[in-house]
Amino acid sequence: MAAPGDLSGAEVVVEHVSRSFGARVTALEDVSLRVAPGEFALLTGPSGAGKSTLLNCIAGFDRPDGGRVTIAGADVAALEEPARFRREVVGFVFQLHHLIAGLTAEENVEVPLIPDVRRRTDRLARARAALAQVGLAERATHLPAELSGGERQRVALARAIVRHPRLLLADEPTGALDSAAGEEVLGLLGRLAREHGITVLLVSHDPGAERHVDRVIELLDGRIVRDAPLSRAPGPGAGA
Ligand SMILES: Nc1ncnc2c1ncn2[C@@H]1O[C@H](COP(=O)(O)OP(=O)(O)OP(=O)(O)O)[C@@H](O)[C@H]1O
Ligand SMILES: [Mg+2]
Repeated sequence: MAAPGDLSGAEVVVEHVSRSFGARVTALEDVSLRVAPGEFALLTGPSGAGKSTLLNCIAGFDRPDGGRVTIAGADVAALEEPARFRREVVGFVFQLHHLIAGLTAEENVEVPLIPDVRRRTDRLARARAALAQVGLAERATHLPAELSGGERQRVALARAIVRHPRLLLADEPTGALDSAAGEEVLGLLGRLAREHGITVLLVSHDPGAERHVDRVIELLDGRIVRDAPLSRAPGPGAGA
């Protein structure tokens, strides 16, 4: 695992990716894009446009019918140990936090470390550091039921970053939050890209999301119809 400080964002290259479901649904049609290391990109578009399908193909949760996805130079479909690659390189956040109800915030964040970090005290120290990064140091021993919706989503974000991923994939992470809590999560994602150089690919309908990102990619009917870089320069850790 990368240590804090030697993070560098992973480049994501999507080349001519297509994905159909049965004969009638073409969810993605010849989609190509490149997300630079450390870039914070927003994937937007109406319901059914193919956003989640694209994110799932990038994550390796789903397999394109055609085309290729490369993360940090590795062909996602040809990995020998895909689960290990995902564990070590990619972090995920979803619309619902998927926290384990019977575990405290720090125990939830500890879970992804169990396979590799033997000592519990080390795991908990790292979990608390990740919680501090999302502003929740004081809530470490609270159960999910004792947290607000925004706080729960921030715990999910801490869990996604505790292994120092080089790529963070977030599918509607603010979809279940009010606008203030959503703003906070978007701001945190921006900081991860700017201050830690993590590449962030965010799927969102949130009208406030555009203000936080470097670039907006819009999908419609499985095709890219807009790809607009915004003015913010990529943060440290961004490659050429
Ligand atoms: N497993 C599946 N089986 C059949 N069709 C699917 C499957 N997954 C997605 N689809 C279809 O593919 C299209 C794209 O779906 P996708 O979930 O990627 O949309 P989306 O842009 O994420 O929408 P939303 O904003 O509502 O989440 C839709 O028409 C959807 O019905
Ligand atoms: Mg979706």
